[in-house]
Amino acid sequence: MRITNAKLIKTVYEAKDLPPLDKKEIAFAGRSNVGKSSFLNTVLGINAAKVSSSPGKTRSINYYLVNDIYYFVDLPGYGFAKVSKQEKERWSILLEAYFNQRLNLNMVFLLLDHRHLPQDLDYVMIEWLRDLGIPFIIILTKVDKLKTSERKRMLEQIKKSLSVYGDYIYIPFSSKTKEGLKEVLDLFSKIFGE
Ligand code: GTP
Ligand code: MG
Repeated sequence: MRITNAKLIKTVYEAKDLPPLDKKEIAFAGRSNVGKSSFLNTVLGINAAKVSSSPGKTRSINYYLVNDIYYFVDLPGYGFAKVSKQEKERWSILLEAYFNQRLNLNMVFLLLDHRHLPQDLDYVMIEWLRDLGIPFIIILTKVDKLKTSERKRMLEQIKKSLSVYGDYIYIPFSSKTKEGLKEVLDLFSKIFGE
């Protein structure tokens, strides 16, 4: 898919503010600091999502309107230790409402750090998506930080640790080198039937 324009159109803190279900939608989920905002900036070709060295920056559900016809949704990152209990609760209420309400959601891209095995909350997210019957694809971020031999070993280990859940598509990705960008854009075309 060729992305000709993308803009942030809505920042949602409460489920009642979610936009109407009038467009096809895909969403991006992952741990805080996994590189979600960088990923979105890279695929959208804009610098709309805030990238930071301090994790926990993206607290809202951010709606991007892409090519005037699709919603791309940046979901708030999970697993940031310094977040208060109240904030965590707010997160799960908002996310639960999001997944339950968005009948126009075609696919979730789940971002995992290529350097590490999935962690507790990644499994929670995977089980959540699986139980709701929402299809997802796994993006392995920050691949530029790995040596070739390590990549291979980590990919095998990550695949193995998730094989009990199902057979997924894994895309190694780097916002730095843009590795994986073409594969991701091709997947968008497939998902939207373009
Ligand atoms: P929160 O919104 O805070 O939850 O984080 P996020 O998942 O949106 O991550 P963000 O894109 O803000 O990136 C976090 C840090 O990782 C930043 O310092 C980025 O520069 C860095 N980073 C993200 N993607 C890559 C990548 O592909 N390669 C490298 N080397 N660094 C990356
Ligand atoms: Mg972010």
